Amino acid sequence: MAHEMTEGDGITMSASVIRGMGVCLPQGVVTNDDLVDRFQTSDTWIRTRTGIHRRRWVEPGTSTGDLATVAGAAALTSAGTDADFVLLATTTPDRPCPATAPEVASRIGLTDVPAVDVSAVCSGFVYGLALASSLISSGVCTRPLLIGAEVYTSIIDPLDRGTGVIFGDGAGAVLLERGDEAEPGAVHAFALGSDGSNSDLIAIAAGGSRAPHRDVSASREDRYFRMQGRSVYTQAIQRMTSSCRSVLSRTGWSSDAVEVFVSHQANQRIVDAVGDRLGIDTSHRFGNIAEVGNTAAASLPLAMADTAGREGVVPGARTLLTAFGGGLTWGSVALNWPDVKPIHHLHR
Ligand code: UT7
Repeated sequence: MAHEMTEGDGITMSASVIRGMGVCLPQGVVTNDDLVDRFQTSDTWIRTRTGIHRRRWVEPGTSTGDLATVAGAAALTSAGTDADFVLLATTTPDRPCPATAPEVASRIGLTDVPAVDVSAVCSGFVYGLALASSLISSGVCTRPLLIGAEVYTSIIDPLDRGTGVIFGDGAGAVLLERGDEAEPGAVHAFALGSDGSNSDLIAIAAGGSRAPHRDVSASREDRYFRMQGRSVYTQAIQRMTSSCRSVLSRTGWSSDAVEVFVSHQANQRIVDAVGDRLGIDTSHRFGNIAEVGNTAAASLPLAMADTAGREGVVPGARTLLTAFGGGLTWGSVALNWPDVKPIHHLHR
C-alpha cells in the first residue's frame, strides 16, 4: 500500500482492488461412486476422510490453458475492462516449456502483454495475488489478470487412491486494479512462506533437471504426482493457521472480526481444523470442496466465486484467504470482499 494525495485535502491509502471474477469448470462430473472400482475405495471413506462428494475432470485433450483462457476472459467481462499483465498460477502447465500464460493471454486477445506462470502448487493463487499487487504498486502494470488453473488429472497416477480421489480440474481468475484501501475488493496484507527442506512431501520426482528424461527411464512412482498425505495434513494445518495469525496481526483484525473465511480446499478436515484453531465461527467459513474436490491453484478463486452472493457475504466484508501446497509453500491474505458478479462457465 502507498500513501497518495487525493483530489481533495485528505490522504488515502492506495491498494490493489479485485474488480472482476470468472471461473471455468469441466462439464464432466465424477462422483465418489464412479471411483469405487478403480481405487478400491468407497463413497463413505471419501466423504468422511475428505469431505468430497464429487469433482470435475476434463475429457482427454483439454488442457490447463483451455480452462484458463475461458476463466480469464470471463474475469475481464466481469470487470468490464482488459488487462495489461497476465499471471497464471498452475502446477500443470500445458508443456514444461514455454510457460502457458503467454499463450493464454494471446488466446484471450491480450496482444503483446507481459505474461508469466507462477509455480507454487496449491499456494499459487495467494502468491499470484501478492505478485499482482506488487506489480500494481511498483507501477509495472495497472490491471493484472491473475488466473489459477489446473488439469490435475494430467499428473495424478490413475492407480493411486491417495491422490486420485482428492484432486479435480478447474480454473478461476480475478482482475485487479489500483484503487482505494476502503473499497470493496481492496487487498490489505499478505503473509507468505516456504520450507524447501520438505520439498519431497509433494512432488513429481522425474522430468526436471535433477532427473531428466534423457538420463532416466522413470519408474511409475517417479513419473506421477506423489503426496505423503499424513505429513502434508499436519503441515497444512500448522502452516495455514500460523500464516492466518500473521496476516491478522498485520491488519489488526481479531479472528472474531473475520466475516468471510475461505481456505484452500485441501481436505474438509484440514479446513475445519484451521477454522477451529483460529476461532472463526462456522457461519463465516465458506468453501466448495464437496462439489469440486481439491483443485490446487484454482481452488481459492473457485471457492470465492462460489461464495459470492451467499448470506453474509457482502461487498466490503472483512475476508481472510489462506492456502498451503507443495514446495512447501503457504500464504494468507486479508482483503475486503469484492463488489463483483463472478461469471461461471462450463467447458465441454
Ligand atoms: O492441496 C494441498 C496439499 N494436500 C493436502 O493438504 C492433503 C493432505 N492430506 C490428506 O488430505 C489426507 O492425508 C488424505 C485424504 C490424502 C488421506 O487421508 P488420511 O486420513 O491421512 O489417510 P492415510 O493416508 O493415513 O491412510 C489411512 C488408511 C490406510 O489404510 P491402512 O494402512 O490404515 O489399512 C490407507 O491405505 O486409509 C487407506 N486409504 C484409503 N482407503 C480407501 C487411503 N486412501 C484411501 C482411499 N479409499 N481413497
